[in-house]
Amino acid sequence: MKKTHQNIRTWYKLYGRLDLPWRTTTDPYHIYLSEVMLQQTQVSTVLERYYFPFLKKFPTLKALGTAPLDDVLKMWEGLGYYNRAKNLHKTAKILTQRGQAQGVPPTLPLNIDELIKLPGIGKNTAHAVAAFAFKQPVPIMEANVKRILCRLYKLKTPTDKALWEIAYNFVDKENPFDYNQAMMDIGSSICTPKNPQCTLCPLSSICQGKEEPTRYPNKKKRVVPTREQNIMLYTYNDKLSLTQRTGKFLHGLWGFEEIDVPLCASEYIGEVSHTYTHFKRICKIYVYDELDATRNNYFTVQEIRKLAISKVDDKILKLYLDTIQTY
Ligand code: ADE
Repeated sequence: MKKTHQNIRTWYKLYGRLDLPWRTTTDPYHIYLSEVMLQQTQVSTVLERYYFPFLKKFPTLKALGTAPLDDVLKMWEGLGYYNRAKNLHKTAKILTQRGQAQGVPPTLPLNIDELIKLPGIGKNTAHAVAAFAFKQPVPIMEANVKRILCRLYKLKTPTDKALWEIAYNFVDKENPFDYNQAMMDIGSSICTPKNPQCTLCPLSSICQGKEEPTRYPNKKKRVVPTREQNIMLYTYNDKLSLTQRTGKFLHGLWGFEEIDVPLCASEYIGEVSHTYTHFKRICKIYVYDELDATRNNYFTVQEIRKLAISKVDDKILKLYLDTIQTY
């Protein structure tokens, strides 16, 4: 094992993404934020568009914990999976209140069991914060690491419990930070889902699956259901009506209204679609350009830009603006 850990570490120092900003900071809040952003989003997106602006607006846990949720959602706009932002905000609020009660600045708990109790911090994020922010000798378990472990031990459909057990046995307890970051880099650059480059892998000498790596783990093909919706854009004098969502789905974000049957006097302008984890939305977009006396929530495009809206609503707005421009 020592030799393998050494190989991983040497590889990391040569080829790892050593300069990612959440790897060069020691601030636990910054590390925690990066882990939440990276849960369902690619490194390049987080790096290019979200991580730095978010930290500029909310540089500390306290700044985040005392901010209005609308401001947090605005900084999250387009990143998707908005529960992440809401839970991040809830956790920051809880920790800020705890800090205030003790007369100290808010901090994240060091302990994995305490971290897991906080909103939005699951087992993997708790382990990542413990390993990266607090240098604890624990493994992480994101998708890349899972794939590597499955290939190392020729596992097709392991349970989470089995994977965690293996991960705990395999982790480099002397260098948990480098080891875990390296595993993610090896998974995203060498031990990839398709065409893994086993000849370049620092784990190849002990990998049991390297003859046919893509057999591990077994891929489940998932087909997501499609949901068709009619969306009605109520417009008047170059303003558009939006409402703030109250239901479970995209709660708190502003958006255009779904309608069962399009109004007779409305005009169809096109379709936009978007795939979420569990379903695909196909939205047919209609415009109703008459003042609707029941609404008092018409916004100019400039005003809409200040609201947090979902990806789909942004696509709908673009379609609308393209449509009126071509007239
Ligand atoms: N995905 C989740 N955590 C990450 C990290 N620390 N570096 C790169 N990708 C990640």
